[in-house]
Amino acid sequence: MNSNFKSLSQDLESVIFSEAEIDSMLDRLAKEITERYRESVLERKFVLVSVLKGSFIFIADLVRKLDLPCEVFFLRTSSYGSSTVSSGTVNVEGFPDADKLKNADVLLVEDILDSGRTLYKLSEIFRTIGAHSVRICTMLDKPARRVVPIEVDFKGFEVEDQFLVGFGLDYNEIYRNLPYIAVLKKEIYS
Ligand code: PRP
Repeated sequence: MNSNFKSLSQDLESVIFSEAEIDSMLDRLAKEITERYRESVLERKFVLVSVLKGSFIFIADLVRKLDLPCEVFFLRTSSYGSSTVSSGTVNVEGFPDADKLKNADVLLVEDILDSGRTLYKLSEIFRTIGAHSVRICTMLDKPARRVVPIEVDFKGFEVEDQFLVGFGLDYNEIYRNLPYIAVLKKEIYS
């Protein structure tokens, strides 16, 4: 533990998205998603899948702005551990019951799209089990780090290649509870 702790903000370089900016982004995304699925919910189940842990705050705020019938599932992936670089292997735990997803319109909800490995693997799995459609919603997109091609359907913000924390994003499991998105000071992780 840091014995000099006063505030989480002491470890931050700068805030890049304030609470107000995030809230407007959520309003915009919720509108886009509602428009996209408004017709299809009359015929098929609409399922949002939260990719834990990072997306827990984003999805909680997003679903409360959606005026649509929807189900929410959670699964857990991890590929970074305590490192700032992806291990290249995506571990998936707690996959939902495949029967509940057959013929559903699935929306994968992520906090950040980086190398693309996590969403690539998940999209493949959901298509294989017979989802009617698989789309992607990510709060942040870091295209500079992409290794696998991914098409994003709903995007919050595009960001540069900086180490970001807050609003679900962590470093070593800390900082997820910051209500805004910030750049972490280099000295904290290097
Ligand atoms: C982060 C993030 C995404 C993934 C994106 O998860 O939440 O799931 O990495 O990276 P990729 O595009 O390179 O696959 P992480 O493995 O750090 O786990 P966490 O969500 O529990 O923080």
